[in-house]
Amino acid sequence: MIQDNLFNYKHFVFLKLAVALALISGIAYLIHTPAITANGGTWLGYTLGTVGALLIVWLMWLGVRKRQYSNETGNLRAWVSAHIYLGLALTVVATLHTGFQIGWNVHSLAYVLMMATIASGGWGLTLYVQGPKAMSDVLNRQSPEELASLVEQLDREAAKASKQADQAVQTLVAASAGQGVFNQRTDAWRGHVSACLTDNCVNQLQQALQANPELADLYRNQVQRLRALKQLRRYYHLRFWMDLWLSVHVPLSFGLLAALLAHVLSVFIYW
Ligand code: HEM
Repeated sequence: MIQDNLFNYKHFVFLKLAVALALISGIAYLIHTPAITANGGTWLGYTLGTVGALLIVWLMWLGVRKRQYSNETGNLRAWVSAHIYLGLALTVVATLHTGFQIGWNVHSLAYVLMMATIASGGWGLTLYVQGPKAMSDVLNRQSPEELASLVEQLDREAAKASKQADQAVQTLVAASAGQGVFNQRTDAWRGHVSACLTDNCVNQLQQALQANPELADLYRNQVQRLRALKQLRRYYHLRFWMDLWLSVHVPLSFGLLAALLAHVLSVFIYW
């Protein structure tokens, strides 16, 4: 049996709903012949505007719904699936509402912010589809905390083992132990560090190993440390982008809400 996911939820019920909404809006727009140029002020313009505004408020409600863990009305997967498809249908409803009259004013600001919110939603969706699975794959049934404590344990073992080695090796191992997951904040964005001291230690030990086979345990220890660091780097890199897109999508949606309010108020003030 194929499991419901964000896209095929209940046999694509929300995709069908969104297509129906876009089609009805499109057909109404085509058969509507207003006495003035089509815009938000005709009866169809008001209707599409009301549907669009209600949709925006409902789309924003997802933020509230996500935090209501005890609420049983519809599961979150259904909510997100509906959010995606109806959010995309909003492009059609709102564009027809404008009657393609875009200019430098508060009405168009609301439209531009809406399109930017929807575009950021599309960007987030690509991260959303790959991110969580990629994160759990890279952690391989471990938590980031478990990996971090593995690194600490490896450091304790390395400090003990390197006591028998010469000064150069001790310095290399000590420098490696000081290497954190990232060197600077921008590393999380790129997902790797350019001068990794553990990587350096692994390379140096690999060369020294030929002349001194007793370094084998220390070498294995550092290879394990590097592997754990790489897992943590990939994990935090993915998390960074997952957090970043929401910190774009959510403020944009609040900006849109404010512009929508200004748009609606100005329409009624200048009625
Ligand atoms: C004007 C249209 C839209 C508005 C106002 C809007 C608003 C929001 C808000 C308020 C949240 C909740 C974020 C949170 O509190 O964590 C959210 C989440 C989300 N939105 Fe949108 N959104 C819109 C369109 C879209 C579109 C078109 C897509 C996809 C193509 C999309 C994808 C998502 C996803 C994937 C989430 C995360 C859901 C989750 O965390 O479970 N959004 N959106």
